[in-house]
Amino acid sequence: MNKKTLPLARRMRDIEPFHVMELLARARELEAQGRSIVHMEIGEPDFPTPQPICEAGIRALQKGELFYTPALGLPQLREAIAAFYQSRYGVDVPASRIVVTSGASGALLLAIAALIDPGDQVLVSDPGYPCNRHFVRLMEGNPVGVAVGAGSNYQLNPELIAQHWGDRTVAALVASPSNPTGTLIPPQQLEAMAEFAAQRGGTLIVDEIYHGLVYDGDAMTALATSENVFVINSFSKYFNMTGWRLGWLVAPAVYVREIDKLAQNIFLAAPTPSQHAALAAFEPETVAILEARRQEFRARRDYLVPALRKLGFDIPHTPQGAFYIYAGCGALTRDSFAFAYDLLERAGVAITPGIDFGAHAPERHVRFAYTRPVEQLAEGVARLTAYLGR
Ligand SMILES: Cc1ncc(COP(=O)(O)O)c(C=O)c1O
Repeated sequence: MNKKTLPLARRMRDIEPFHVMELLARARELEAQGRSIVHMEIGEPDFPTPQPICEAGIRALQKGELFYTPALGLPQLREAIAAFYQSRYGVDVPASRIVVTSGASGALLLAIAALIDPGDQVLVSDPGYPCNRHFVRLMEGNPVGVAVGAGSNYQLNPELIAQHWGDRTVAALVASPSNPTGTLIPPQQLEAMAEFAAQRGGTLIVDEIYHGLVYDGDAMTALATSENVFVINSFSKYFNMTGWRLGWLVAPAVYVREIDKLAQNIFLAAPTPSQHAALAAFEPETVAILEARRQEFRARRDYLVPALRKLGFDIPHTPQGAFYIYAGCGALTRDSFAFAYDLLERAGVAITPGIDFGAHAPERHVRFAYTRPVEQLAEGVARLTAYLGR
């Protein structure tokens, strides 16, 4: 009998690991050996989930509210999210268009699965959030990375979308504020992109997961500009609930039935205790805690950006949101990957090399996350200063 190898789908060749996870594992290994590491690689808030949310989750557990919810989500939570759009943005979003998901990740998967046929293209920014291209690939679509730089505030814009939209393009996927660059897309540009996509028979997917973490004014939701865009959001970042695995998708009304079918099949429902806990996320008491944390993030950004510029990192625009700084390191190294590992080994500072975010000049960029208190960021800067011999 011929010896057969075990099957592995062809798509797996195109699904890459998160390099930062390997760097994090090395950082943990060094810590286990007694080394002190300053973590500026981690993409989640260091703040614990606010107490009112935890208490609501505990109450749900104690009451035994642990059965499946409807696939589209707990009705009260969908209503609470609709009310949040009204109170925060002054935008009417009917609860019927809101789908509660397992994180923004679940929302991205549902949106992309509902839109993409094999061979269809989705425009994404490069650099950008790496999972996006993998979600598209998972559905047998082709992610088209569009190089973005300082000239477009590290974001797609209407001109870039028009330039790269092809016969097989069905959507452009943007994040505002973005991971890894922290930059925002102005509302007029979102509107123009949505309009262009609609004219070409496509749509715009806007990932608003970092909304709430915007430091000079507030971001406006893309839902204010069009009813035909897909908007992704999450309880992970602003609400400090990463591990609860909860987010949402706002879909154009005509897609809700389709998304419902998909959610029933893929997830059955988002986690029930998390959904009950999230009912407390919009309470004034919780929002007061979150807004204080937002000020803390702003203070961290305002400390770190000038400190890095002084060290020779190129940061052409001060990032407006999220908790990331995508810094050019071309004046300091030709290989950001080797730089990040060397910095970790020799100076005990962990940062993310550009390679995780795309193919456009990754070797000349690194991402700093300010998900640590200012004192720790200052220690990181002191170590960087010594490492660079400044
Ligand atoms: C831009 C962006 N979208 C989506 C996600 C997924 O987040 P979650 O599934 O925790 O909501 C992340 C996580 O880092 C992100 O940075």
